[in-house]
Amino acid sequence: MFKQSLCLLIALVLNCNGAVDIEKYLKVCARNSPDVNDCLVEAVEYGISVMADGIKDLGVPPVDPYVQKELRLEYKNNQVQVKMNNKDIRVEGLKHSTVRDARLRADEDSFHLEIDMYSPAVSMSGKYEGGGSYNALNITARGTYQTNMTDLVYTWKLDGKPETINNEVYVRIKSFYMRPDVTSMKVHLTNDSPESKELTELGVRLVNENWKVLYKELLPFAMTNWNKIGTKVANKVFLKEKEVLQRGR
Ligand SMILES: *[C@@H]1O[C@H](CO)[C@@H](O)[C@H](O)[C@H]1NC(C)=O
Ligand SMILES: *[C@@H]1O[C@H](CO)[C@@H](O)[C@H](O)[C@H]1NC(C)=O
Repeated sequence: MFKQSLCLLIALVLNCNGAVDIEKYLKVCARNSPDVNDCLVEAVEYGISVMADGIKDLGVPPVDPYVQKELRLEYKNNQVQVKMNNKDIRVEGLKHSTVRDARLRADEDSFHLEIDMYSPAVSMSGKYEGGGSYNALNITARGTYQTNMTDLVYTWKLDGKPETINNEVYVRIKSFYMRPDVTSMKVHLTNDSPESKELTELGVRLVNENWKVLYKELLPFAMTNWNKIGTKVANKVFLKEKEVLQRGR
């Protein structure tokens, strides 16, 4: 449930020639410019502020708060087994992020972009319903959760490939990677399940005392989720306009 879909947004559009519609919304950087990395830092920072509320014309969903309807999780590790369904997940805080650095490596057949990010605070909330077992002990619970995280440091890594569509070259983003380091995390849970209600306080305490371990265990699920969201959102930008990200000519 720590899968704060810090989803992303790649507001950066690289463009080699000419005006494109997308410039109405986003800052465009010239891919062949020697200053492209500095330009990208500004473009991404600006892009996040614009994409916070979404860009309808480009099909970009609001990214802050970012809302995800559902996320299912199944976890198994030795004697521990958890099945959980998260609903109405809401992640807030991305728009207060700063972009610390950006590095683009792109040529005729490959595209690789790294963006170093810092977010002072991100909170995630939602509803959960699920059950877990530890050896013979079985617990089900349902309720709401809220998680506050501070000082998140992470790098977005986007990999893509040029693709020709109707004689125009676009970049299709194939993967999106991030693995945030989080400095502190505070979790609050409510539990409406009568059979486990009295264990709630203990559960919350255990989660808060062991959040680092839990976060590490849950990261692979979160990263799979972020990869899907990040790739989809990035392609809303990269595959949208003919001129976006053309090869230098
Ligand atoms: C625990 O719950 C799961 C799923 O609800 C169930 O399949 C399993 O048999 C239960 N185990 C015990 C020991 O009650
Ligand atoms: C998270 O932060 C909000 C706003 O500062 C606060 O109201 C809430 O109690 C915090 N929740 C937790 C679990 O710390």
